Amino acid sequence: VDRLGIALLGAGRMGMTHAAALPAIPGVRVVAVADPIEDAREAARWASGAARAYADPAEAIHDTEVDAVIVATPTPTHAYLVEEAVHAGKAVFCEKPVAEDLARATALWKTVRASGVPFQIGFQRRFDPGYAEARRRIDAGEIGTIDQFRSVGRDPAPPPLSYLKVSGGIFFDQALHEFDLARFLVGEVSEVMVWGATRVAEEIGAMGDADTAVTMLRFQSGALGVIENSRRAVYGYDIRTEVFGSGGKLVVDATPKTPLLRYGEQGVSADHYTFFTDRFRDASHEEMRAFVASVRAGTPPSPGIDDALQAMKIAQAATLSFRRQRAVPVEEAS
Ligand SMILES: NC(=O)c1ccc[n+]([C@@H]2O[C@H](COP(=O)([O-])OP(=O)(O)OC[C@H]3O[C@@H](n4cnc5c(N)ncnc54)[C@H](O)[C@@H]3O)[C@@H](O)[C@H]2O)c1
Repeated sequence: VDRLGIALLGAGRMGMTHAAALPAIPGVRVVAVADPIEDAREAARWASGAARAYADPAEAIHDTEVDAVIVATPTPTHAYLVEEAVHAGKAVFCEKPVAEDLARATALWKTVRASGVPFQIGFQRRFDPGYAEARRRIDAGEIGTIDQFRSVGRDPAPPPLSYLKVSGGIFFDQALHEFDLARFLVGEVSEVMVWGATRVAEEIGAMGDADTAVTMLRFQSGALGVIENSRRAVYGYDIRTEVFGSGGKLVVDATPKTPLLRYGEQGVSADHYTFFTDRFRDASHEEMRAFVASVRAGTPPSPGIDDALQAMKIAQAATLSFRRQRAVPVEEAS
């Protein structure tokens, strides 16, 4: 292909991030955007330079100039839109989670595998310079045998209830990023034990979901891990990770957003990231760049459908553990 023709489906928080990134990426052009909300799709068309804007995502997928589809729509629509694109023979980039539950994700995994269509899942933290470098140093053996993993993921505030209702719950929606980091940095997880609580909003608890959770992990290697998630951090987006081993440890810390320090009567303060939109903006650009480069080169994109499914299995085990209040082997949930 000359320039890869893209259809961008969904022009919300994540879709607009991709719409802003794509024009700066070589070898690609956005052909079509799709969103049922007119203002949203027009904003995405303007940001991405797309020729056409559709209300119906199927029309964008089947646009003859489209070679690859980016799915950034609400979670319960992912599976059928990915299937539609795969059946049309178009490469797919899909936001996490790949589907709203594990059964749907497993069926989709089979479809994508059987088709051989290039597929990438939206775990953009793998493209953050800190996390990418941590992985390279682990692979180089710098911290020896890994014994422990810890990761914190706190959002500034809960998303709207309308989003939460279709999100799949805290483990499929939020903790999924930490589950992927655990796999990316340490390896496969064999068992989880969760305590979940409602500390932020009663409505979340009433939905059978948690807004605060601690997940303990046992890795296949024998290493142990702990993940803390919360839907509320009044100071912004709180993401940090530590991998500890026989030869030392690696820490991806929450560095200040800018070099600015303010000194005043109240003390010293620094700029902090507000959310994924600023903390992982560059990583989101990098993941798009990698997707485009892989599809153009004919090499399998990464992270792929196996990574999408494995993280979902851990999320399923975590959800069961939260409900049953006991440790759950990942295999039991699969
Ligand atoms: N990788 C990340 O860090 C990250 C961050 C946020 C969200 N996400 C994921 O991205 C997805 C979207 O989340 P969001 O926060 O952008 O949601 P959002 O609600 O801000 O945006 C979703 C958009 O999709 C549109 N839409 C709804 N149904 C559609 C359809 N059938 N076809 C086309 N467009 C449709 C809506 O009108 C809306 O504009 C979710 O699956 C979420 O889990 C990932």
